[in-house]
Amino acid sequence: MKAKLTLNRDFVIGNVDERIFGSFIEHLGRAVYNGIYEPTHPTADEKGFRTDVMELVKQLNVPIIRYPGGNFVSGYNWEDGTGDPTKRPRRAELAWHTIETNEVGIDEFQEWAKRAGSQVMQAVNLGTRGPEEARNLLEYCNFPKGTYYSDLRRANGFEEPFGIKVWCLGNEMDGPWQICAKTAEEYGRIACETAKIMKDLDPDIELVACGSSGLGMPTFGKWEATVLEHTYNYVDYVSLHSYYSNAEEDTPSFLACSLDMDKFIKSVTAICDYVKAVKHSDKTVNLSFDEWNVWFHSNESDKKLERWQIAPHQLEDIYNFEDALVVGCLLITLLKNCDRVKMACLAQLVNVIAPIMTENGGPAWVQPIYYPFMHASNYGKGIALSPVVNCDSYSTKKMKEVPFVETIGILNEKEHELTVFAVNRSLEDSIEFEIDLRDFTGATVMEHIVLENDDLKAVNSSTDPNHVAPHKNGVTKVKEGSATAILNKSSWNVIRFRLGK
Ligand code: AHR
Repeated sequence: MKAKLTLNRDFVIGNVDERIFGSFIEHLGRAVYNGIYEPTHPTADEKGFRTDVMELVKQLNVPIIRYPGGNFVSGYNWEDGTGDPTKRPRRAELAWHTIETNEVGIDEFQEWAKRAGSQVMQAVNLGTRGPEEARNLLEYCNFPKGTYYSDLRRANGFEEPFGIKVWCLGNEMDGPWQICAKTAEEYGRIACETAKIMKDLDPDIELVACGSSGLGMPTFGKWEATVLEHTYNYVDYVSLHSYYSNAEEDTPSFLACSLDMDKFIKSVTAICDYVKAVKHSDKTVNLSFDEWNVWFHSNESDKKLERWQIAPHQLEDIYNFEDALVVGCLLITLLKNCDRVKMACLAQLVNVIAPIMTENGGPAWVQPIYYPFMHASNYGKGIALSPVVNCDSYSTKKMKEVPFVETIGILNEKEHELTVFAVNRSLEDSIEFEIDLRDFTGATVMEHIVLENDDLKAVNSSTDPNHVAPHKNGVTKVKEGSATAILNKSSWNVIRFRLGK
């Protein structure tokens, strides 16, 4: 099979906001306890953080991490996780039906994120709580000194404000599973009033309003429009959440799910711009895709979990090679929409539907989905160029024209690099992939990284951590203004070109 990609410096989608490579840590399962934090672990530092996990997080290069939930945040008292750790209350946690010990809270997570080189995207509880607690938490985190909560932070050992820039106004408030879920009217009003006082206290923050918790929600569309009608002047982003599944064991359809993500993004963008129009506003509200991933492998075992455990093995999806291909397609889709998607969070980061796994007291290792994310976050910075693609397509039960190649080019002018990310969705054929480089004279190939495996279901484990891992033996040749790359069947490819100065 053959395919062609044309890239041109003038066909610009937009600058990639680095925060598109964000992630998420929720107080859920073993994400925090026995994930990032395990004081008795041989690699633990003086704060109890696992340094082996920290190293893997750093390599992933995650600029922003959403915290502390997720569903968890809608029942959370943030004060429980501050001050003397020996005096913190244990709570029955109603989102995931576990016991929350509160050993780790906002203070510790700030410290951990700083060490990981990440900013925190802080969510406030608009479920059981409301504007007052959101204001108090913001005062605790960002106010310099001389007020009750800022001085409480200082008394807890943090003289300097945390300076948290991005705040989520609740989580999935449209979902019936959410603690104190709301109608769009109810949420729109409370989010608006919370946003007003938060921006009054700290005008430098950015706020994310809850969009629908999925494209398939019955209230989708109407929800966004109503919420934005209330909040448009006070918020900067609307959130999107989506998880994809191959429970039906239909890999061609599964590999096409990024087209669904694209439709979701385009629809929410249209709704934002509709509200902009009816408000005669000059302001543009952008998108925060702050939960996305594959999630289905752990569904059955989670149904059997006993309630009220501390840090149970919950949502521990074991990802295989085909999941990594899907994550690659989803990353390319986010990049293709970077003119409006400014932030996105791979949900989640450690143990819970995560690229990084740990054993309690044992090793940490990475799942296959770790690699496309790491490649994208390391080489996907710069200007996203609109991909003009010619290639064959296939049909699935739900979709008519699924292109065999999913691809994007990112121009990094500062580093004089051009990176092409490409997934070959074909399960049978390799593709001769021509890249038109006439606008990039003097380009040479730096490397062609490939993630591939004969077994779509291949996984990594603590005893075989490198079973699915990328190699650098991809074949790309440059000749007279074009490059020809071989995209092996079902593969993730990163083709890096050095550009002439
Ligand atoms: O990421 C797991 C859960 O998925 C989050 O807590 C929730 O927001 C979503 O439904």
